[in-house]
Amino acid sequence: MTTTVKLEVFRYRPEEDAQPLYQNYEVPFRKDWVILDALNYIKDNIDGTLSYRWSCRMGVCGSCGMMVNGKPVLTCAAFMEKFLPGPIRVEPLANFPVVRDLVIEMNDFMRKLRMIKPWIIREQEKPLAEGEYLQTPAQLAEYKQYSMCINCMICYAACPVYGLEPAFIGPAAIALAQRYNLDSRDQGKSERLRILSQEEGIWACTLVEECSAVCPKGVDPAEAIQRYKVTGATEWWKSILMPWGNR
Ligand code: SF4
Ligand code: FES
Repeated sequence: MTTTVKLEVFRYRPEEDAQPLYQNYEVPFRKDWVILDALNYIKDNIDGTLSYRWSCRMGVCGSCGMMVNGKPVLTCAAFMEKFLPGPIRVEPLANFPVVRDLVIEMNDFMRKLRMIKPWIIREQEKPLAEGEYLQTPAQLAEYKQYSMCINCMICYAACPVYGLEPAFIGPAAIALAQRYNLDSRDQGKSERLRILSQEEGIWACTLVEECSAVCPKGVDPAEAIQRYKVTGATEWWKSILMPWGNR
């Protein structure tokens, strides 16, 4: 019976390491432990210098994404048992610069989220006295799956296009744009289309679909991008055939 497991953990301390290295740790094996439990065990009992992000421990905050044996996962949802007999290799999310150990730089992702205007845009708000904007269950169902995103960036770590072309706006940001475009209360579609129709937007996607395969929340960014391509192409034809429509 397995009682301990070896973890090979990516370490990079910029003030002392010329380049990254892997450090081995032996941790207890417990059937109910996830990879994050093993990292917390290391931090609490073996090596307090290990750096990584986490918060909720329940697949909600999106901060604990890492590569485990080469696959991007939420470490609070990845049971150690799945990776036996080990060793289990834990690395920072691929395709992002490393700040320290397992902590990656998120600025590029945050900038792209802001770019797509992830909020409800109204041409004109109705007076408060007229009450809230109501939606039918069918209208809610149109965008609901895209609203499940927790911004964990796992889809960016799995996306070969983002790996080769960091300017690509990327799966989660485009799925989030669709979350608002498909919301019956939103009137900002044309503003987002201008951003997403750029070279680094929807057209950069080559439909590998790994983003959807790895998403821990069941979001389907690949579908969002393909739907948006239809919208982008339709709007382009409209602008050619009906130029007055853009005036
Ligand atoms: S789409 Fe899925 S994998 Fe991508 S950031 Fe959102 S929750 Fe994470
Ligand atoms: S710690 Fe919050 S999603 Fe894993």
